[in-house]
Amino acid sequence: METARTTERKREPCDLLIVGAAELATPLGTTPRGGAALGQIHVIPRGAVAVRGDRLVAVGEERDLRARFEAAETLDAQGGTLVPGFVDAHTHPVFLGTREQEFEERTRGATYVEIAARGGGILSSVRGVRGASSEELLAALLVRLDRFLELGTTAIEAKSGYGLSTADEIKCLEVLRQAARLHPVDIATTFLGAHDFPPEYRDRRSAYVDLLVEEMLPAVAQRGLAEYADIFTEGHVFSLVDTRRVMERAKELGMGLRLHVDQLTPLGGAELAAELGAASADHLEHVSPAGIEALARAGVVPVLCPLVPLYLRQAQEAPARAMVDAGLALALSTDFNPGSCTAMSLTDTMTFAALRYRMGAAECLTAATLNPACSLGRGHEIGSLEVGKRADVVVLDTPNHVHLVYDFGRNPVRAVVVRGKVARDRLRGPEA
Ligand code: NIG
Ligand code: FE
Repeated sequence: METARTTERKREPCDLLIVGAAELATPLGTTPRGGAALGQIHVIPRGAVAVRGDRLVAVGEERDLRARFEAAETLDAQGGTLVPGFVDAHTHPVFLGTREQEFEERTRGATYVEIAARGGGILSSVRGVRGASSEELLAALLVRLDRFLELGTTAIEAKSGYGLSTADEIKCLEVLRQAARLHPVDIATTFLGAHDFPPEYRDRRSAYVDLLVEEMLPAVAQRGLAEYADIFTEGHVFSLVDTRRVMERAKELGMGLRLHVDQLTPLGGAELAAELGAASADHLEHVSPAGIEALARAGVVPVLCPLVPLYLRQAQEAPARAMVDAGLALALSTDFNPGSCTAMSLTDTMTFAALRYRMGAAECLTAATLNPACSLGRGHEIGSLEVGKRADVVVLDTPNHVHLVYDFGRNPVRAVVVRGKVARDRLRGPEA
């Protein structure tokens, strides 16, 4: 008795202990993991974490953590798996209105580019955003952030890009800033004014590029509204020449670069992304071997979106295995948007990556956590379960991390802890 009480007194206080897990699985480090390291993760059977404030203060075996800590609150994982909060490095979540008619058209054989040429596609969402108030956009965005959180995604990159005028792009970025203040999901903001040419510039495309460079980018930078700038570099939209001009201006203004490249046609966008020193090159279904080499040399993170070719009925998929062989540190993303992928689940995305790209479960986990976190400049803060990092933890109802990828088509997330607070807990009901 006496000994037990002495031990009791010596335990350190912590705010939250997450115990009862069959397994804890996490990549390690603060830098992107490529090549063979993509699939090297740290697995602790009966692993647990201790949280103080918004930080992880211990990660280890449950037995050791229970002996060391006296917790104000305990969360029981009930035989599940603990993984880091998922990080989605490519989303377009600020829009109003849906595009199911285009989906139907594609099932009848129309292509994404044909639909865009008729004024559908991105321009259809532009009409929705231009007609919407900030309040309406914010309300729709907050609902989407709730859904991301329920699916275990604790940080997203979020693009504007359905405004395509200075005022409407700023409106979308300000909505993102407001949402970031109101919602626990961490948001990295990206200006995507170069998503398409707006109707009023249809016949004078170079004037829109001038507007981007001379007015829109400086206005966004001056207001500090975007960490990154992005561009849709593709045959029917922005050329390599436009891309260089817009991205160099963004860089001058202090923004990081992310680029939609080599998605529908092989343009050599990956090579340009590498030359510009982009943080990420996204899509890459048509990347060339030279493009892969250039990305590897420049240390650019490829953000792959395996659900998009499926949704667009596009045969060509990203050559993920060749990228891993070249040492690249892949990230996986949903590309959540109203046109080319409505899915928000990174766990389903992982399953598709496993099946279509032949990625192992450990590779998928790194590509859905640490690598995207690093591509967003947040590798020191999030993306792994390690002492000192932010306590963003997902409690899965699966017995191990391989089961997570195997058992798809449903939400395996039982609870989500964000910044040390239990933000969702299915076992406690909807209000928790
Ligand atoms: O990532 N490629 C360009 N942008 C999105 C599609 C956006 C849309 O169709 O609304 C994408 O696939
Ligand atoms: Fe996209």
